[in-house]
Amino acid sequence: MPRPTPTFADELRDALTRAIRGVDERQLARATEALVERYRAVAPAGAPILASPAHVLAYAAYRMPATHAALARVLTDVAASGFEPTSQVDLGGGTGAAAWAAAAAFPTLERISVLDQVEEALRLGRTLAADAPAAALRSARFDRAVAGRWPEGRVDLVTVSYVLSELDASEQEALVTDAMARGRVVVVAEPGTPDGYARVLRVRDAFRGAGWTLLGPCPHAADCPLAQPDWCHFAARVNRSAEHRRLKGADLSYEDEKYSWVAAAEPDVVASQTNSARILRHPLKRKGFVEFQVCRPDGSAGREVVSKKSGERYRAARDAEWGGLLPG
Ligand SMILES: C[S@@+](CC[C@H](N)C(=O)[O-])C[C@H]1O[C@@H](n2cnc3c(N)ncnc32)[C@H](O)[C@@H]1O
Repeated sequence: MPRPTPTFADELRDALTRAIRGVDERQLARATEALVERYRAVAPAGAPILASPAHVLAYAAYRMPATHAALARVLTDVAASGFEPTSQVDLGGGTGAAAWAAAAAFPTLERISVLDQVEEALRLGRTLAADAPAAALRSARFDRAVAGRWPEGRVDLVTVSYVLSELDASEQEALVTDAMARGRVVVVAEPGTPDGYARVLRVRDAFRGAGWTLLGPCPHAADCPLAQPDWCHFAARVNRSAEHRRLKGADLSYEDEKYSWVAAAEPDVVASQTNSARILRHPLKRKGFVEFQVCRPDGSAGREVVSKKSGERYRAARDAEWGGLLPG
């Protein structure tokens, strides 16, 4: 039987495995523990969290597959809007997770620039991308820059992936303003926690305030209908490599990365917002019907049922997933 073509996620996992081969496992495990502790304390970073080469390698080995998986889902969704960027800037891009995700979601990409304050992360990003399965990724630039002093230039797509939590509120606002000034489409992703969602909501407000078109996940531009303690978040499946499992002391061959996100386009870039409801939870497949929690184009959220009687729509509903769109 022919072997399946490796996906970008497979290629990234292999590149990461090569990068950590021969590195002292105990040192890597210690650095991983330090990062886990640091990310648990949701507080702006006074100094770079990726403080040493070991921290960078630990980040790449244990977090990058997960941030990549989240961004892969988000950008595939954004691509469904018909947007075809040729250039991307990844602000706070670290080892390049969002650049890998964008190169897969947008075959039209020609120029990718990853900007970050940590030189060692950029160096590893360059190494990982050297054998990547897309020319735009292999020729991507990885340059040192600090928020507030990003190099000038306009691009089609700006990604801000898992960065806001490291900044204080005014730095977050400035970064989003900066992103909107340099991109036609801006995509922001954060951990799928109540805090991450709160940061994403503030970004969504900035988009709405500027009259940008929301590309997702919201199918409307009204206020978010989810009331506390609920929060809008999704999950991406990550297949763990043997090294990844060892590093995390985990038995399962996969994990689910929870994320929150929002994406928007400046006026006239895409025709309009999607007109389908967004699935907010794992669908419940019952006998003869599928039950969904959704966010609707009219700005409301609630329960929808698709029964066997609806034929083709029911068959599509059986395959629908949390984070996707409700079959129409
Ligand atoms: C959690 S990592 C996310 C990396 C990558 N975007 C991803 O999704 O895997 C946060 C990144 O933001 C960068 N960062 C944080 N504050 C920054 C600042 N003030 N200027 C530039 N980069 C910054 C960090 O160096 C780090 O690489």
